[in-house]
Amino acid sequence: MSIKKCKIIELPLLNDDRGDLTFIENNKHIPFSIKRIYYLYNNHLNLIRGRHAHKNLHQLFIAISGSFDVFLNDGKEDTSFKLDKKNVGLYVPKMIWRELKNFSQDSVCLVLASDLYKEDDYIRDYDKFLISSELES
Ligand code: TYD
Repeated sequence: MSIKKCKIIELPLLNDDRGDLTFIENNKHIPFSIKRIYYLYNNHLNLIRGRHAHKNLHQLFIAISGSFDVFLNDGKEDTSFKLDKKNVGLYVPKMIWRELKNFSQDSVCLVLASDLYKEDDYIRDYDKFLISSELES
């Protein structure tokens, strides 16, 4: 999998005099069907989340409050994104190593995922990830 497949997705934003509204529909605004939603909050400011890749899972990360950085690596190249807008998601396909850091005090990271939680879908060892991504390419 190439890091080039990771992308920022601008989500619909409806604004009127009552405020803002953003919505997401399966396979329309994002390139997968949502089977699971989870969110990270009360994030410890100096700690790192993630540090793993997924064998098959596709995800979308949204900073629905505050901000944080996402560092991505495909085994060859790396890149990073700062997420700080409620109507912007970061699409991360399978087989991308990710680390989430620099959480602001008020940060909430919403994650939409293409499958249910399955521990055997995780690659938690970076060296194993490098071997698997080499085998895939
Ligand atoms: P993990 O995905 O390792 O956290 P992060 O990548 O954000 O640092 O998950 C932490 C723990 O929570 C781990 O024991 C698995 C559990 N968990 C679930 O049970 N269901 C879920 O949907 C998620 C995301 C995690």
